[in-house]
Amino acid sequence: MSEKILVTGGAGYIGSHCVLELVEAGYTPVVIDNFHNAIRGGKALPESIRRVQEIVGTEILFQELDLLDEASLQELFKKHRFLAVMHFAGLKAVGESVQMPLQYYKVNLTGTIRLLEAMKAHEVKNIVFSSSATVYGDPAYLPLDENHPVGGCTNPYGKSKYFIEEIIRDVCKAEPDWNAVLLRYFNPIGAHKSGRIGEDPQGIPNNLMPYVAQVAVGRRECLNVFGNDYNTVDGTGVRDYIHVVDLAKGHIAALEKLKENCGCKIYNLGTGTGCSVLQMVKAMEKASGKEIKYKIVARREGDVASCYANPRLAEQELGWKAAFGLDQMCEDLWRWQSQNPTGFSKN
Ligand code: UFG
Repeated sequence: MSEKILVTGGAGYIGSHCVLELVEAGYTPVVIDNFHNAIRGGKALPESIRRVQEIVGTEILFQELDLLDEASLQELFKKHRFLAVMHFAGLKAVGESVQMPLQYYKVNLTGTIRLLEAMKAHEVKNIVFSSSATVYGDPAYLPLDENHPVGGCTNPYGKSKYFIEEIIRDVCKAEPDWNAVLLRYFNPIGAHKSGRIGEDPQGIPNNLMPYVAQVAVGRRECLNVFGNDYNTVDGTGVRDYIHVVDLAKGHIAALEKLKENCGCKIYNLGTGTGCSVLQMVKAMEKASGKEIKYKIVARREGDVASCYANPRLAEQELGWKAAFGLDQMCEDLWRWQSQNPTGFSKN
């Protein structure tokens, strides 16, 4: 019998790519999602999961479930015996989090606490958590290693990631037989090579590459570049973009680490290379063969000039390293965007 992994928020962009890799690695993912960001497909399944099924050729166990629904969560843990939990569920829009902090803290923090309680009650002691490089705040030095001070970010979304890290660390301290891997993602982009699953933001994309892809496909007129007066190669913001499939494979490596009874571990998932906004625009023009119109506008509040990882620890301790380069990321993003100009919805 293959080992069952609970995947919260498994219908989302990163979650669905991890579900696919879990199946490929021989695990049985059990996906829960509350459809906050996911589009419904046929047979009560999210469209993203329906397509993962199509790619892997096996059925994926799915249940519509909100982590704040304690009773249903308990039932789920009674029904399945999980080896580990991969926790992706949560609200993730930085700007929105500033407008509605309570909502963000309720969903992200309370949702996680309910999940940890259910794990404790049912003796599931292994968790991989979807954290973010945002916990580092404004970098004091670059590249960012895992020892860089944390807690410096200023928006409720980023703080919720930091608080959850602390909660999980404390649980691991109190429960010595628990294992946790906290993965600090840099900027995931791209899509599975099939072009069948990818990022599908609802409304106006907050993040650079989904926006760029929508300009390339003709869904939006022009990219706003948030500032060109940073102290960077061309004045625009520099980030560490990582292929979402590399990121997903990092989660499988984390799962293997949990099996070593590793206690609480923290790893950056990045490539170690920074790219500017204008370099990304160029790379996407090359991949798509389309012109991407842009204009320079004011800086976005809360943005840092540069942010990129030192990814060595993950390489040393997880045996994981990003394999895909920028061209591949853009080509895969373009395949997804051009074959699904309106994302998972049909119109
Ligand atoms: N940018 C633009 N125009 C846009 C969107 C973004 O110029 O329309 C620029 C930003 O100013 C920044 C770069 O593109 O320089 C990347 O911006 P993203 O919004 O794509 O990514 P961020 O690095 O700001 O944020 C991401 C995640 C957050 C996470 C953070 C961690 O979206 O969830 O990384 O570092 F917290």
